[in-house]
Amino acid sequence: MSTGQPLADPLGLVAALAQEAAGLIAEMRAEARTELVRAGGRDFHVGQLFGRPCVLTLARIGKVAAATTATALIHRFDVGAILFTGVAGGAGQHVRVGDIVLGETLLQHDLDASPIFPRWEVPLSGLSRFATDPALSERLEQAVAGFLAEDFLRLPETSRARLGLTRPALHKGLIVSGDRFVNGHAAVAQLRADLPDALAIEMEGAAVAQVCHDYGVPCAVIRTISDAADDSAHIDFPVFLSEVASHYSYAIVRRFLTGG
Ligand code: ADE
Repeated sequence: MSTGQPLADPLGLVAALAQEAAGLIAEMRAEARTELVRAGGRDFHVGQLFGRPCVLTLARIGKVAAATTATALIHRFDVGAILFTGVAGGAGQHVRVGDIVLGETLLQHDLDASPIFPRWEVPLSGLSRFATDPALSERLEQAVAGFLAEDFLRLPETSRARLGLTRPALHKGLIVSGDRFVNGHAAVAQLRADLPDALAIEMEGAAVAQVCHDYGVPCAVIRTISDAADDSAHIDFPVFLSEVASHYSYAIVRRFLTGG
């Protein structure tokens, strides 16, 4: 596979919750030279992942948690790029549970300093949408293609059946973030009306993209759809989290890092 530009080392790798990165954390811990550094109440696993220098950590939930974690990765661990992986609610009409969304741009859907600044604009930045790095995203897209062709089918049949996962698709475009778990038909309908091109809703990505923009660090955000952000989101989300999320992130990150 063509991997485009070389990765800038080390890679900062972030998920919100342990279930989203369980396999990756286990993989890093199994490597004897991995060092555990505690900072800001978080565990940073510093070492090699699939043969590449990485710093892996859990941000926990929300934009502030994500922003402080990204800042620590840049300042304290000197990462050359940040990849955020995890789950999200589906926002786009054609986005289904089990699909994968690659963020090309990220926006904070709950940011509103109007009428002083336009709705969604980060005050004094002139920006409401923060772009991810095209080279990292291209590399991720190739990793996802391999995942969909091979690794997805290794998910236990029971989990696939329970969540109705059949032929997941990849979508690329806008991911929106806010400090709210979107869990209702009216809320998701309003979000779609306000931001018709939003594909996925989560709670961290736009904060990471903003920090990376400020520091000139390339970033990428990839999300697996765990729920439809509707009235059953709080039921689908924990099932997906415990049964499926880690399988996706492990296999995609492995392919991303190895170029395999
Ligand atoms: N992450 C996963 N599902 C989500 C939802 N429905 N709202 C916000 N963040 C999410």
